Amino acid sequence: MRNFLIAGNWKMNGSTAMSTELSNGIVADMPASDRVELLVCPPFPYLRAVAAQLAGSGLKLGAQNVSAHAAGAYTGETAATMLKDIGCEYVIVGHSERRAMMGESSEVVAAKFCALLAAGLKPIVCVGETLAERQAEQTNAVISEQLEAVVEMAGIDSFANAVIAYEPVWAIGTGQTATPEQAQEAHKHIRDVLAAKNDAVAGVVRILYGGSMKGDNAAGLLSMADIDGGLIGGASLNAADFLAIADAAIAQS
Ligand code: PGA
Repeated sequence: MRNFLIAGNWKMNGSTAMSTELSNGIVADMPASDRVELLVCPPFPYLRAVAAQLAGSGLKLGAQNVSAHAAGAYTGETAATMLKDIGCEYVIVGHSERRAMMGESSEVVAAKFCALLAAGLKPIVCVGETLAERQAEQTNAVISEQLEAVVEMAGIDSFANAVIAYEPVWAIGTGQTATPEQAQEAHKHIRDVLAAKNDAVAGVVRILYGGSMKGDNAAGLLSMADIDGGLIGGASLNAADFLAIADAAIAQS
């Protein structure tokens, strides 16, 4: 049985006051559950302050990016060991915003994935197609290419310590959510790609859905067989909205 993971991706939003208030708000009303894990991924400057707020609460801490390099002359970059050192457990890699705007290739994403595992952190690796790719019926091919690059570099067994997020680019921040059936089809494809290499690993890896997930559509998505949680952007910036999704997960667990 896979536990749900409900992860908040705050993106480049907030301030000291906002991140403190938001993390406090989540901790204050957080439901207790050993079947649903809750995670927040604030911007780098606020990780330490949020870590202090979360201490002992069960709410987990994650980051939104990492360097592929271990240490050294990489001005402006952050090493996986540094994120581990300040209390992160998870780190998002390969978000479509970074692939599109920062030009991150699937190979760079794979190298970051490996750097995280080497530091004892759990990668949340994002995959997903653009609208044009979906319309051209390339969804499965795009997902496979993004996934295979990581499998090739990190090895299939590494996915036992990782999380995958399926995030159709056309659903991110648009208010247009994939239907539970569309999402399930993509999640099933992801699990099948992994199962062809290692059935046991494919059975344990959690696959999150991301793209305009909200309190009112979470139940339908989370009820699907291969959807093991959510990577939430917009709705994670408000404690009540984020917790509504957590409640939907608990109701299914
Ligand atoms: P959204 O973002 O929930 O605002 O669509 C999801 C994400 O980009 O991780």
